[in-house]
Amino acid sequence: MSEETLEASAQFIRRSGGSPDRTSLEGEVCAAVAGFLTALEALVSQSGVNWRGNRPPHSPRKAHMPRIPRDRSLDSTLAVLLDPYGFISNRCRKYRTDLFETRLMLRRTICMTGPSASEVFYDQRNFVRRGAMPERIRRTLIGRGGVQGLDDAEHQHRKQMFMSLMTPERIGELAETVLHWMRAYSRNWAAMDRVKLGDELPEILTRAACAWSGIALEEREVETRTRQLTAMFSYAGSVGPKHWWSRLARKRTERWIGDLVVRVRAGELTAPESSAMHVISFHNDLQGRHLSPTVAAVEILNILRPIVAVSVYLQFLAHALHMHPPGIPSDTSAGARHREAFVQEVRRYYPFFPAVAAVVRESFEWKGYRFAKGRRVMLDLYGTNRDRRTWDAPGEFRPERFDGIQPRPFAFVPQGGGDHDLGHRCAGEWICIELMKAAMGFLTEEIAYDVPEQDLRIEMRRLPAVPRSGFVIQNVSRA
Ligand code: HEM
Repeated sequence: MSEETLEASAQFIRRSGGSPDRTSLEGEVCAAVAGFLTALEALVSQSGVNWRGNRPPHSPRKAHMPRIPRDRSLDSTLAVLLDPYGFISNRCRKYRTDLFETRLMLRRTICMTGPSASEVFYDQRNFVRRGAMPERIRRTLIGRGGVQGLDDAEHQHRKQMFMSLMTPERIGELAETVLHWMRAYSRNWAAMDRVKLGDELPEILTRAACAWSGIALEEREVETRTRQLTAMFSYAGSVGPKHWWSRLARKRTERWIGDLVVRVRAGELTAPESSAMHVISFHNDLQGRHLSPTVAAVEILNILRPIVAVSVYLQFLAHALHMHPPGIPSDTSAGARHREAFVQEVRRYYPFFPAVAAVVRESFEWKGYRFAKGRRVMLDLYGTNRDRRTWDAPGEFRPERFDGIQPRPFAFVPQGGGDHDLGHRCAGEWICIELMKAAMGFLTEEIAYDVPEQDLRIEMRRLPAVPRSGFVIQNVSRA
């Protein structure tokens, strides 16, 4: 599709009020679940769930081997669209199983939930990521050639590049930059009738993400770059004009960042040595070559885009502070512990990524079930964070469950499970936690505000779900 057509789509969205802007943060959509959304176009029909043990063709099964329970509907894509967060865990609970097989986008897929499933999913001897991601998602959310689709030595080498950016000092600098912009924006909020955090936060985070990554943004660029970075995760899984706008946003941001990479390499621009722009521009792959400008841009966008997506968690944080006001202890160290526990509970309780996907590397058995080579497997992140075997009263918001307790790497998986350095667990998890803690301090100690009447329900059919109102505050003043 030509850029003109993409631009026409973008204009159509703006004119039709479904503006591809920061008001509708539909989500930093995980590749696999966004694949569910794209499948809407390919959906043939949906019949009821019919649970039967059914032997897959061409997969010899030993006589004693139990069958993976199978959803016999032609395709479950529509069911996922209607209930993206509950699809896997509800069926597993109903049929008392940790796994079942179905078709999503007409492709046979094993769905799994729970801490044991998470442990086997993140054992890289069992799975690869290459080929797990639908093409449409690569063209919007992720891009081509990025770390998410790499395996083995290539993946570990690239992942180290990301992890080298995640030092406590650098993360502290990012949190300070975000706070700087929150304070600056809040001076305007005092004069505004209603402040929709869902509109304000993406711009704050775009400014901070670019500055932290060594990218100088001109003032006139801020709005456009915010819209583009937001569109990549908001509309990646959408169909129609929104999807095309998301593609256009990726094309334009890759071109923007790719040009900067070329200029940094040529010495026409400088970026601090510890910044993402510098580190990624001069990173060598395992063959000792720089990444192509496009792949370098994809990886720099793997920093910028998710930092802007933290705005979704910050809306949830504000929502939780309102719905479950914390009694912050005045003692500093108890206060810090309490803040951390509150933030962890926000990440456990609220929905963000429903699931992640991988492909079976070589056939193997787990709990007696056969996983055939090449089969796609989806791990239920949301359901695992609410699994009754791990969490007491999982549907209740209880920060104290994290008080002084280190979460288990396969049971608490809002940003993936396992090991950050060796596996595919989110590289930006500590950034996320620190930005949420900083924002919590800001919202509870630096400003005072009222929360007016509004629709505070969480829109669970969107990816990720967001408060319907975008979380509005008013009467903002310095505390
Ligand atoms: C907004 C909140 C965030 C959420 C909910 C989130 C969630 C996730 C999830 C579920 C994965 C995939 C895990 C897997 O494939 O098993 C992931 C991967 C990743 N995330 Fe995040 N993330 C967030 C923020 C960030 C931030 C702030 C950064 C960087 C600044 C980041 C960088 C990455 C990278 C580079 C990967 C790929 C890791 C790999 O494949 O090895 N994310 N994230």
